[in-house]
Amino acid sequence: MSERHITITDNKSGKSVDLEVKTGTHGPPTVDVSGLYKDLGYFTFDPGFMSTASCHSQITFIDGDEGILLYRGYPIEQLAEKSNYLEICYLMTYGALPSPNQLENYSSMIVHHTMLHESLKTFFNGFHYDAHPMAIMVGVVGSLSAFYHDSTNIQDPVCREISAHRLIAKMPTIAAACYKHSLGEPFQYPRNNLSYCGNLLHMMFSVPTEEYVPDPIAEKALNLLFILHADHEQNASTSTVRLAGSSGANPFACISAGIASLWGPAHGGANEAVLDMLHEIGDVASIPKYIAKAKDKNDPFRLMGFGHRVYKNFDPRATIIRKTCHEVLEKLGDQSNPLFEMALQLEEIALQDPYFQERKLYPNVDFYSGIIYKALGIPTNMFTVMFAIARTSGWVAHWMEMISDPRQRISRPRQLYDGAATRDYVSIDQR
Ligand code: ACO
Repeated sequence: MSERHITITDNKSGKSVDLEVKTGTHGPPTVDVSGLYKDLGYFTFDPGFMSTASCHSQITFIDGDEGILLYRGYPIEQLAEKSNYLEICYLMTYGALPSPNQLENYSSMIVHHTMLHESLKTFFNGFHYDAHPMAIMVGVVGSLSAFYHDSTNIQDPVCREISAHRLIAKMPTIAAACYKHSLGEPFQYPRNNLSYCGNLLHMMFSVPTEEYVPDPIAEKALNLLFILHADHEQNASTSTVRLAGSSGANPFACISAGIASLWGPAHGGANEAVLDMLHEIGDVASIPKYIAKAKDKNDPFRLMGFGHRVYKNFDPRATIIRKTCHEVLEKLGDQSNPLFEMALQLEEIALQDPYFQERKLYPNVDFYSGIIYKALGIPTNMFTVMFAIARTSGWVAHWMEMISDPRQRISRPRQLYDGAATRDYVSIDQR
């Protein structure tokens, strides 16, 4: 028995069980309830996983009360200021910051995996021109296993690494193709001389008839947004990737499952929903009406971009993005962007309101990200796609960590069944 444990006693049977209390590097002590059913015959009940740690992980740490976010131990503020997205991808995958040589080799590896199989491109024609790009992305990423089955042996660490590189490299190409398909423009091949974000801008906004040089302001802003969105421990989409992967599914299928989960407005779809909400509010004078709607329990309206399961303090990513929003709009000559003005007002009014104060509802990362994407000329329905590109580095790192963990088992939650009790079948003529 470990030094610290919790004893649970069933006051009906008098039976007791000692549960080990585990401690991590940071974070609250964690009670290991895995033996509870075997020893006492009980399940634990925790809908929404409010108090459940689903796995060991060494990738990301969040302290929601203090507003702390660490990737592999490094504070998000330092990474946002000093790093770049490909370095973050390396950090996520391998657990340490790369040496200059390692980063060069890694970048070259990613750059040489950015093209899509030519046959894969024909898939896009099966989608209607106005299909939501997230719908296309879920399908196309899932189909990658049909094209790259040489790397789907998940027991082989080399295959896992190649799959990780392919996913990180091809996501921008797929995302840009989703966008080009909606415009009816030809897909642009990736360019190896551009940065990860510069290449994405090139594939989205260039046309074969003209020279295109990515705007360094846009490149820098995207780089920052991608760093901030790279990982967030066991959020809904990452948990979905882990759950799908726990059965031994191939990595492309698992990431496709993660993209599907990300799409929901309570998760990654919030960035699109925030812009829709700001447009719906329309002007500053209407803000009080929408604040009242958000507080009304009989109204399904919620203030999108507000609240977070883990952060009960400012989301540190929102603080960084808010500042960047000012800078980007200023540099793009768009200081008086009406959406940003309205977002600032909305934030101020909500933060002074006891409803939001009592529930510790603060702006989250996506309250401002959409405003930056919009200012960069990225259409609203592509916002969650941008998020998916960035989060791929985190999903892939979690998937690799899970598969290589010797404790890994299929994820199989139980339930509190409250349906009909055992009853006999009644033949149809007697019902
Ligand atoms: N507007 C109004 N009220 C809210 C909001 C909101 N955005 N968010 C939470 N609340 C209220 C709830 O009604 C509830 O009130 P009650 O205690 O009186 O019943 C209380 O705050 C707690 O909310 P829960 O829904 O229980 O919190 P949970 O942790 O389950 O949900 C979530 C977190 C999904 C993020 C929620 O705050 C929300 O829907 N926010 C808007 C969507 C959003 O911005 N999502 C992006 C999250 S960040 C990301 O995934 C990248």
